[in-house]
Amino acid sequence: MDAHATLSAWTPDSWQARKLSQMPDYPDAGALAATLAELARLPPLVTSWEVELLKARLALAQQGRAFVLQGGDCAETFADCTSDNVVQKLKILLQMSVVIATGLKRPVVRVGRIAGQYAKPRSADTETRDGLSLPCYRGDLFNRAAFTPEDRIADPALMLRGYERAALTLNFVRGLIDGGFADIHQLESWDLDFVSHSPMADRYRQLVRRVSDALAFFESVTGQKLDAARRIDFYASHEGLNLHYEQAQTRFLKHRGRWYDLTTHYPWIGARTAALDGAHVEFFRGVANPVSVKIGPATTPDELCRLAAVLNPGNEPGRLSFIHRLGAQRIGQLLPPMIRAVREAGASVLWICDPMHGNTEVLDSGIKTRRFERILEELEAAFRIHAEAGGQLGGVHLELTGDHVTECIGGARGLAEEDLHRAYRSQVDPRLNYEQALEVAMRIADRG
Ligand code: PEP
Ligand code: CO
Repeated sequence: MDAHATLSAWTPDSWQARKLSQMPDYPDAGALAATLAELARLPPLVTSWEVELLKARLALAQQGRAFVLQGGDCAETFADCTSDNVVQKLKILLQMSVVIATGLKRPVVRVGRIAGQYAKPRSADTETRDGLSLPCYRGDLFNRAAFTPEDRIADPALMLRGYERAALTLNFVRGLIDGGFADIHQLESWDLDFVSHSPMADRYRQLVRRVSDALAFFESVTGQKLDAARRIDFYASHEGLNLHYEQAQTRFLKHRGRWYDLTTHYPWIGARTAALDGAHVEFFRGVANPVSVKIGPATTPDELCRLAAVLNPGNEPGRLSFIHRLGAQRIGQLLPPMIRAVREAGASVLWICDPMHGNTEVLDSGIKTRRFERILEELEAAFRIHAEAGGQLGGVHLELTGDHVTECIGGARGLAEEDLHRAYRSQVDPRLNYEQALEVAMRIADRG
């Protein structure tokens, strides 16, 4: 970090003078400016009250008094914005959160990779098919997946389409929750999606019965309905990759005296855009939202400390999370010095484990997958290493779906390589399916 970077004043567009990665150029500057002006006029997707409430919850997770469950698709697409998809995703996250809360005896902070997870970093700038090279597809917020020159041009209008999809999704999620969909009294009625004879089903049903009995017991003893069991909090997050989109919805709130990025509650900076002197770190240092940074094997302990100093100079509780994604094989070697350095620097952070992105492999058939055992192995190692260091793992970050896809190998049903073709739907990274996701939740619960 050079002196200039530390001393210069932050403005919502100060990122534009920094090194920009993973963002394509918009060839039509006039159209970009007009779209951003429109986006800036539209109402925010989330409110600062919700954002501050989440920050307080994350501060509890940092002290080991709550646990963060963050999950959803690797990439949402505009076409996936359907009633079924939203319901399924909400349902699996709710079920997992009940399992984890019961096991760990701690409240769970539920965060979806939802309502804005439309922009993706890519390892190559171009894609070549039959001798034709075109700009790569970077997610529906930037360009279109079809392999034609027109579709691959970055189109600012897609930011408006993304904003609308995010609003539709959030509206539905809020309606479901307000209407009682997440009511713990209804736990038994969520139990609709197990494939028959699911190895997970029996255990899940036992647990649900325990929770229902406990609730019934409490209510009969106190003679009151436990209203707190009817409503839950649910928060949105996405990778804050398209800084034009984030900036357009960022405003200064006089009553709080701070800037808020109101596209989402809890944005994260991806592993590929976490450079200290880069545009993404510059943008997110200036907003009051809780922010996370994905930490890969290339990040040094020293860089972590400097990220903490830049992103959370006041050591505000709940403000900064590090999501480590180091891989099952390397976490044992890489994580301990990271934890030590951050502690010695006196930085206050919430540690979350993403056991997905360090364990991706490409099979001979060309299919991208992840092995369930590796995912669990990394997660278990994360719990152990944080505990041995005298701290705690405060949450988990997963790529999952509420559907019965076949994208990751293993799990209680023993999905094999030959099974992957049956229901492989992800355009990007392989996700845990419904049962695998619930199994991860049960393993986390077992640590309670
Ligand atoms: C992701 O979360 O989909 C992603 C690209 O992760 P990372 O930045 O950790 O590679
Ligand atoms: Co991913």
